[in-house]
Amino acid sequence: MRIAEQKIDEIRNSADIVDIISGYVQLKKRGKNFIGSCPFHQEKTPSFTVSEDKQIYHCFGCGNGGKVFKFLMEFKNISFVEAIEEVADHLGIKIEYDSSPSDQQNELEVYFEINTFAARFFSDCLLKNNDGEEAREYLKRRKLKPQTQRTFGIGFAPHGWNNFLNHAKSNNIDLNKAKQLGLIDLNDKNELYDKFRARIIFPIFSPNGRVIAFGGRVFENQDNVAKYLNSPESPVYSKRRSLYGLFHSKDEIRKLDKAILVEGYMDLVSLFQAGVKNVVASSGTSLTDEQVQLLSRFTKNILVLFDADSAGQKAALRSIEILLKQDFEVKVITLPKGEDPDSFINNFGKEQFDEEIARAQNFLEYQTSQFEQQGMFEDPAQMTKAIRELVRTLALVSDELKRNLLMKTISKKFGLREKLIESELNTVLYHSKEKEITQVNRQAVRVEAQDKNLSLPLSVKQQTENPYEKELIRLLFSGEEKIVTYIFDNVAIESFNNMDFRKLAEIVHSGLDEEKISPADLIEKIDSKELRSFILKLELSDHVISKNWDELSYNGRIEKDTYEHAMETVRSFHVFQIEDEIKKNNLLIAESKDERLHIELLKRNKELQDDKKSLLGLKSKNEFDW
Ligand code: GTP
Ligand code: MN
Repeated sequence: MRIAEQKIDEIRNSADIVDIISGYVQLKKRGKNFIGSCPFHQEKTPSFTVSEDKQIYHCFGCGNGGKVFKFLMEFKNISFVEAIEEVADHLGIKIEYDSSPSDQQNELEVYFEINTFAARFFSDCLLKNNDGEEAREYLKRRKLKPQTQRTFGIGFAPHGWNNFLNHAKSNNIDLNKAKQLGLIDLNDKNELYDKFRARIIFPIFSPNGRVIAFGGRVFENQDNVAKYLNSPESPVYSKRRSLYGLFHSKDEIRKLDKAILVEGYMDLVSLFQAGVKNVVASSGTSLTDEQVQLLSRFTKNILVLFDADSAGQKAALRSIEILLKQDFEVKVITLPKGEDPDSFINNFGKEQFDEEIARAQNFLEYQTSQFEQQGMFEDPAQMTKAIRELVRTLALVSDELKRNLLMKTISKKFGLREKLIESELNTVLYHSKEKEITQVNRQAVRVEAQDKNLSLPLSVKQQTENPYEKELIRLLFSGEEKIVTYIFDNVAIESFNNMDFRKLAEIVHSGLDEEKISPADLIEKIDSKELRSFILKLELSDHVISKNWDELSYNGRIEKDTYEHAMETVRSFHVFQIEDEIKKNNLLIAESKDERLHIELLKRNKELQDDKKSLLGLKSKNEFDW
């Protein structure tokens, strides 16, 4: 049985953590917080702290901490549901249990059943119908064995407008739902008709093996008729979230810890038949984030194997971007011109195919060889462009260590100084950050007027620990929307050098869409125990970072001082970054022999100096109007 989500929220919002915990632990008020002896470990001096306004607890001795439900779960050794029940009981709230999920499940079940019914119909038509002969011939020509056809449930949708429709009617199928699944549709005269006609049918399975959709291929390519017809989105099918073939290949993918990505239904089926069983197909479109996420449950290593035509190459590059962003180890295979995986394996066999696979290049080599083929390395101007492009791809790799290794590869390959590549990389990161900033701006609630003066320059050198990062994180976890918005308006998430802080900032940022930001909810989103404990400490500690910080907010009203303190922190953060970049630039200037670079760096230094001046000038004016 489940408790309705809404009810949980209601209980959470009405509960007071101090009230509940003081039922079990003696608490004393100390400043803004309450303290007591920790019930989770033996201690002489109390270090168990409870915050009323943040609705969280934390023990500075043993590190235990969280929200009210967590306390009860740990203290009484009970489940989440039992903890909710206890709090509800305490508050006199009556719990309603959700009875609907099973109904909902049943409803989805009906859609699955209709799809299975249709798949069986198409398969029967292929195996038994007279005009199935034509389809059987076709599949034979395409070298698909009956065994493979059975494995993938391949079928045939006959000619005519109502074969499936009549079959469905006589089996009392819910026609409305069949229509939602895209199996039938209404014509101009309001009559139902079959959507899949005269096509080879490829059922599309969920990772668990349910039939969720269909792809239908015409027999021979005709003008004006799409080669493939696909089911529309439906209650059981989301194109963005499914990968053709995954149900059949997932075990092999896990076993080999690598997957091969192809474009087409036929590519997948043919490779599988030939014994290459760790394949998934993106079904023609470029890969989506959701598909990559799905695949990442089985492996993080992928070989991208797209057609040699230019559309295939483009799709490959786009897919690579998405894969890199999700930290996949990406290799690329280019097939000889005119071949796709299906034709290749049928023309040359598995052995030859394996050899191709052994020649797979990592994505940088692949991109480099693409540029080489285009003759870009013969002309210095083109070469610069090519290197920029390579660095742009490189910038997608979020793992810093991996990125640095790849950077070395590029610099070696082209005999360039690493510093040069690095500065190029930083420029790219800088621009992508600018883009992100505008995105943040768009979605954030505006803090008007005074912002205009603060078009802050963002430094990009990433190595030095910026001492203001920690304070920014603390402010981000304050739960004050105005402050959070202000910080995100002026500080890009990537400019946090400390990766832990960056992760924490991301968590707060992802919470911006939610209606209310509560520090306790945010803390719950942190996976790492250490980080959670770090934030709890930061939030609950009495340590005063600024003298203004003393006069914190009460009753949800933000005092002028807090806001001003946030602005000051942001400003100091940027000043530090600028100074840091100036320092690094000076080192580069001393070292650089290239005159043009030298001049560029001097110019940049001047800009930085100006930025710094204007930032500091702003500070002295102190013209915030409340
Ligand atoms: P064959 O031509 O039979 O070898 O099929 P294929 O799978 O190799 O097709 P192709 O390489 O032309 O296209 C790759 C994939 O793109 C297909 O498997 C489909 O998923 C998708 N696709 C191709 N053409 C169409 C189309 O007209 N409509 C839709 N919706 N998808 C298509
Ligand atoms: Mn093909």
